[in-house]
Amino acid sequence: MNKYSVGIIGATGAVGTELLRVLEARDFPISALHLFASDRSAGKPLVFRGNPITLETLVQESFVQLDIALFSAGSEISKQWRGAVKLAGCVMIDNSSAFRMEQGVPLVIPEINAGDLKSHNHVIAVPNCSTIVMLMAIAPLRAFGKIKRIVVSTYQAVSGAGAKAMRELETQAHDYLHSRPIQPSVLPHPIAFNLFCHNTAVNEAGYNAEEWKMIQETKKILHDDDIQITATCVRVPVFRAHSESINIEFENARPSIEEIRSALAAFPGVKVVDDRAGNHFPMPNEATGQFDVLAGHIRHDVSNPRAIDLFVSGDQLLKGAALDAVQIAESLIEQKLLRH
Ligand SMILES: NC(=O)c1ccc[n+]([C@@H]2O[C@H](COP(=O)([O-])OP(=O)(O)OC[C@H]3O[C@@H](n4cnc5c(N)ncnc54)[C@H](OP(=O)(O)O)[C@@H]3O)[C@@H](O)[C@H]2O)c1
Repeated sequence: MNKYSVGIIGATGAVGTELLRVLEARDFPISALHLFASDRSAGKPLVFRGNPITLETLVQESFVQLDIALFSAGSEISKQWRGAVKLAGCVMIDNSSAFRMEQGVPLVIPEINAGDLKSHNHVIAVPNCSTIVMLMAIAPLRAFGKIKRIVVSTYQAVSGAGAKAMRELETQAHDYLHSRPIQPSVLPHPIAFNLFCHNTAVNEAGYNAEEWKMIQETKKILHDDDIQITATCVRVPVFRAHSESINIEFENARPSIEEIRSALAAFPGVKVVDDRAGNHFPMPNEATGQFDVLAGHIRHDVSNPRAIDLFVSGDQLLKGAALDAVQIAESLIEQKLLRH
């Protein structure tokens, strides 16, 4: 089996840390691993497969030694180094939103549209984490007929805003319980024992950027410009794993509950958690650390004879970012789309 030289850009971050774990857990065929972060971290070691690897800062030549560059250091860094990646003949798999909606850049959830990788031009985008978690539960249901409309509301963990936001929730929870004043610095509002609409800019239509990404990216990934979708994205005081309430309307007759359960259970990367008697449905603390997206609380919508409701929780640092990126790399190898 061929082995590949891999780089992680943003290796110390919330997603970067998981990229290391996922590469290890999936026994990815690596000949050499190079880790990059800001100059604040350069020189410090991280451990991979029991061995320390020293963190480097990026230079133009960094990509010459790499086959695959897994980027998770934010949009500006991805944009800054795109040219160098292409020049080196390396492939960028990018967790940021920099290129997701760019024509010609595949936006890929391998279980759904791995075929789109064929047209890559050295840049592949990992979709927004909430979009991935939602579509993992929606994709298997397309076998029952065209989906006309999706209404989704999210309950998003603070780790979606990075490692600093996780520390902020911890500090604020502590301060709150000790009756000390709370001073938000990473997120815009107090998050401990609170929630608020997603902390991204609101556009002219009134949607925040996260909601807009879910709407636009869904159409691109499903190759369906006609699908109607609206989203409300909310940040909640959960450390890890995004949850979502999803209403799905079919154009024609909806499937039975048993058909939905079976289709979800058969789809790779989805686990059904749907215990009505025990009132046990997907929860972020049970989704945390899992590769699978949990789907359940499956109902026929009583207000619309063509619609269903379900609830999902997925670890957005894993399937919503690091795992999806590594699966893209695996699919590139499988489809012989890397230079080896
Ligand atoms: N968090 C999520 O759930 C999630 C999900 C999907 C996608 N994403 C996307 O993934 C990206 C990373 O998110 P994150 O949550 O992991 O952020 P994070 O925890 O804040 O980590 C940012 C990483 O970028 C590194 N970095 C900063 N400046 C750099 C530079 N000049 N050169 C190289 N590395 C640099 C940081 O290194 P230092 O430690 O040295 O500062 C750190 O490793 C973002 O684009 C985000 O939108 C995040």
